[in-house]
Amino acid sequence: MKQDSRSSASAGASKARDGFTSSFGVLAATLGSAVGLGNIWKFPYLTGTNGGAGFLIVYVCATLLVGLPVMISEIMLGRRAKSDAVTALKKLAPAGQPWWLISAFGVLSAFLIMAFYSEVAAWVFAYVFKAIGGGILSSNPQVTSSAFGKLIADPVQSLLWQWLVLALIGGILLMGVAKGIEAVTKKLMPILFLLLVVIGVRSLMLPGAMQGVSFLFTPDFSKITAGVVLTAVGLAFFKLSIGMGTMMTYGSYFRDDQNIPATTLRVMCADLFVSMLAGIAIFPAVFAFGFKPEAGPSLLFITIPAVFASMPMGQLFMVAFFILAAIASTGAMLSILEVPVSVLSERFGISRPRATVLNLLVLALFGATCALSNSSMADFKLFGMTMFDLFDFVTSNILMPLGGIFLCLFVGWVWGFERLKAALSNEGRLHNEGLVRVLLLVVRFVSPLLILVVMLKGLKLF
Ligand code: PFF
Repeated sequence: MKQDSRSSASAGASKARDGFTSSFGVLAATLGSAVGLGNIWKFPYLTGTNGGAGFLIVYVCATLLVGLPVMISEIMLGRRAKSDAVTALKKLAPAGQPWWLISAFGVLSAFLIMAFYSEVAAWVFAYVFKAIGGGILSSNPQVTSSAFGKLIADPVQSLLWQWLVLALIGGILLMGVAKGIEAVTKKLMPILFLLLVVIGVRSLMLPGAMQGVSFLFTPDFSKITAGVVLTAVGLAFFKLSIGMGTMMTYGSYFRDDQNIPATTLRVMCADLFVSMLAGIAIFPAVFAFGFKPEAGPSLLFITIPAVFASMPMGQLFMVAFFILAAIASTGAMLSILEVPVSVLSERFGISRPRATVLNLLVLALFGATCALSNSSMADFKLFGMTMFDLFDFVTSNILMPLGGIFLCLFVGWVWGFERLKAALSNEGRLHNEGLVRVLLLVVRFVSPLLILVVMLKGLKLF
């Protein structure tokens, strides 16, 4: 109980700490972190390459059995400690136990993810302008493929767009948590939903669209291998921004009266809904115009423009689509970068503006390894992968799941029932003891074991 009283004392002392100011702000920012290129780029191409509906079902199970409990735990720890992710685990863990290493590895993950994520975002931002200019408006995938190839093989364009994106994210972060992150995501999230619904409806109205819908919703379990299950679990971590301190950091900005399990459930459902909508916007159109769903990572940049170019008023929808993707990536990047920014500024006492600029400078250099993965550094490979592919693989399939396992062990075995109940019931104001008991059971046994087995099998270590 000692650690608990310490943490609430420090929580009381840091009244002036920046944080989310309204319930809608909490929801917008947290959902803004979850919804991103994961829904619009990763989810569709992974579903496309892993057989459609079967993958979808495994992914939904992973989200429920692993994603939800880890996300609730992370947000809860963050709010309890009211500090950056590293300090949070130092405060909450018994003295001398190195649980803070979870967050230290989280900072590493944040850099690795930002390095490749900001490059995909860079392509998306570049595509907004290319779509407006009409440069990618061709129904011939060979034309759109060569346009994409040109962009990613050009080191100068790749770097400049990435730096532009980083500068934009840095600018928002400089404004702070409430005036920056919260204010921006509150404006952007409603626009994102609106655009997605409009594009989804348009796509469903195309002749032949039902083939795409049935691809998304008729399962074929013969394609499900251990590797596919690991991919689905990795996607659940990546999608919900968990296992690396992001949700702990955002949790520290949650208000004390926020119902954490309810908010988390809402975010999870809305995030799934966005992925479905993205699938519904993409696959019917892909099938309607005779394209292949298993194009891989380039689905968004080669197939989609060709699909839009094939439909009436295609340019308008294409511009809307890439604006939507740009918006989605912005909310996610804000949350990824907030992890190291808050650690530097709170733990190491560096001012927030300096911490932000410092992180950006490091990322501008480090991210170049991903920006140049298709040009100057295409031959620079480790374990047979370019830095872009390697960082993506290592974070989703190793670092985030490992972070998830240790978080579960910490909450389930070190924290225990009483603290969990106090934190999740808002000190007894909510009556959710049954839910707390189920959560404890899941984080003690189900989630960590499941992640471990899936990881070992998926990586062929067992
Ligand atoms: N959840 C984001 C997406 O699906 O695009 C990606 C992401 C954000 C991953 C924040 C990790 C993170 F910490």
